[in-house]
Amino acid sequence: MTIDIYWRIGMEGDHASLRTPRRYNRGNAGGYGPGNIAPAVRGGELDGYSYIDHVAAVARASESAGFLGGLLPSFPVTEDPWAFAAALARETTTYRFMVAFQPGFLHPVQAARMSASLQRATGGRLVYNIISGGGGPAQLWWGDKVSHDDRYARTSEFLDVLRGVWDGRPYTHDGRFFHTEAAALPPGLAGQPFPEVYFSGSSGAAVQAAGRHADYYLSWLEPFADLRAKFDGVRAHAEKLGRTPKFAVRIDILARHTEEAAWDEIRKGWAFVDREAANRAAQGDSVGAARIKGWVPETITGYRDLEVQPNVWCGFSLIRGGPAFGLVGSYEQVAQRLDELIDLGVDAFILAGNPHLEEAYRVGEEVLPLLGRSRLTTPDATPALTHAH
Ligand SMILES: Cc1cc2nc3c(=O)[nH]c(=O)nc-3n(C[C@H](O)[C@H](O)[C@H](O)COP(=O)(O)O)c2cc1C
Repeated sequence: MTIDIYWRIGMEGDHASLRTPRRYNRGNAGGYGPGNIAPAVRGGELDGYSYIDHVAAVARASESAGFLGGLLPSFPVTEDPWAFAAALARETTTYRFMVAFQPGFLHPVQAARMSASLQRATGGRLVYNIISGGGGPAQLWWGDKVSHDDRYARTSEFLDVLRGVWDGRPYTHDGRFFHTEAAALPPGLAGQPFPEVYFSGSSGAAVQAAGRHADYYLSWLEPFADLRAKFDGVRAHAEKLGRTPKFAVRIDILARHTEEAAWDEIRKGWAFVDREAANRAAQGDSVGAARIKGWVPETITGYRDLEVQPNVWCGFSLIRGGPAFGLVGSYEQVAQRLDELIDLGVDAFILAGNPHLEEAYRVGEEVLPLLGRSRLTTPDATPALTHAH
């Protein structure tokens, strides 16, 4: 069995390095400015290089560096991943697009048609990252007041309907959240490969729904023993339903030639530490976010306090927002830790690093080869290519 390795595509902008965390100079978060990469101002005028151009560069760089595809996250502050996937597909050849979306905000028949169109247009390169929402202000931004566990009930019903209309036979459904009568994809769109389903959420409701729908159960990185226990729980639940999901982990990577050089990057980024970020990240009702916050100590005397096991650091959220856990160390150490996760049962990784463009090359050139190319899924071994242009 080979391992699927994805890169993260920053959909909200990116900063030049962790040493300059407040300076988003690539993308919408930073606005227009001289010296920015995108969007840039030169001589007082916009220079025409837009954020989609930069994101396309990241997609092409990570495709050529050996990544199978990219995760396109979805939050109130991001670009829309569906629109960007369609635009980026024409910039790449075999690269897969893992589109994050919340089932509550689309009708499943519309989602089925969008997905089938993308599958047909890209040769089967769409992958789903099904997110059910973390509550709090971000959920209200979308006008969504459905309770935590009901969001998973909605997700589950949504995926049933989406699968129901997929094969082109008329499908009728009158459920709690969705209604459709004799819906079916038109003949030209029916029969595309159904996108692989990555599914996240740490709550009991999430694990139940994942047991039914996940091809890959996806988690943020946690201390390895906790991750193992979490996967055991998901596996046990899925087995009761006669299913065997695979497992995926999303991990920030800060790797350098030496361990000292890697920690030196963290030390410089620590100058911009934002200790409140851990509380902000856990504002909603997300069980997963609360779990993560539990590992960040209340009193921190220095960045090494956050190394919860060798090379596993939970301070990324405090210097750049986003998920807390990542791997810090030499190329060899980071590859070793990834190997340990593979031994623990991980089948797929979504890796990330700031800045996403340069770090895609670095991780692709320095870390992935240490895992052994034979262990990685390559595009020509995938069904996606049988449809590729
Ligand atoms: C790897 C990973 C990526 C996620 N990406 C997104 C995202 O792009 N947008 C979003 O709103 N939520 C995202 N989430 C949040 C989850 O989908 C889920 O809503 C959250 O973990 C709350 O679920 P829980 O209470 O069951 O833990 C992500 C979660 C994980 C583990």
